[in-house]
Amino acid sequence: MSEFQKINLTLHVTTAALTLGILFLQSLAVVMSRRLDGESQIAALRSIQERIQAFVYYPMLVVMIITGTFNIHATNAFAQGKWLHWKLLFVLLLLGLGYLIGREIKVGPYKKPFGILIHIMVFVLGYSILWLAVLRPY
Ligand code: HEM
Repeated sequence: MSEFQKINLTLHVTTAALTLGILFLQSLAVVMSRRLDGESQIAALRSIQERIQAFVYYPMLVVMIITGTFNIHATNAFAQGKWLHWKLLFVLLLLGLGYLIGREIKVGPYKKPFGILIHIMVFVLGYSILWLAVLRPY
């Protein structure tokens, strides 16, 4: 593995961890925001959530996808088995959850069980993606 590939892979893992972590915490904050009192507290949290989304989540997501795409070319990963196919399917589902979390932040939390379900699904998908990426069982 070349020096550049090593740096790229480290950047990929760092940005992927941040993308996942942000979705996990943002969906948790949505559920916890039900305990806030009054419009001004909710507006303050919404403003923080939107700033995190715009200035951290989206930039990390872009770098994660670019470094991941470079990984595919550098290691011919699609030819190694089916782990990457499954991983990318789960990444797509995770991005779908990211969309739902964005809507929760914008238009207000969904009913409680659905908000918690989204939060738990972020964990389950994150676990599955990391399991596939690290162990490559298929
Ligand atoms: C939340 C999403 C993602 C997470 C958590 C994640 C996590 C990881 C981790 C931890 C590794 C290192 C595995 C190891 O070397 O032991 C890895 C490698 C890899 N990732 Fe991702 N990744 C994500 C998204 C993506 C995307 C979107 C792509 C493609 C566009 C991608 C393509 C790859 C490839 C090809 C490798 C193998 C690199 C190599 O063998 O050197 N990943 N990923």
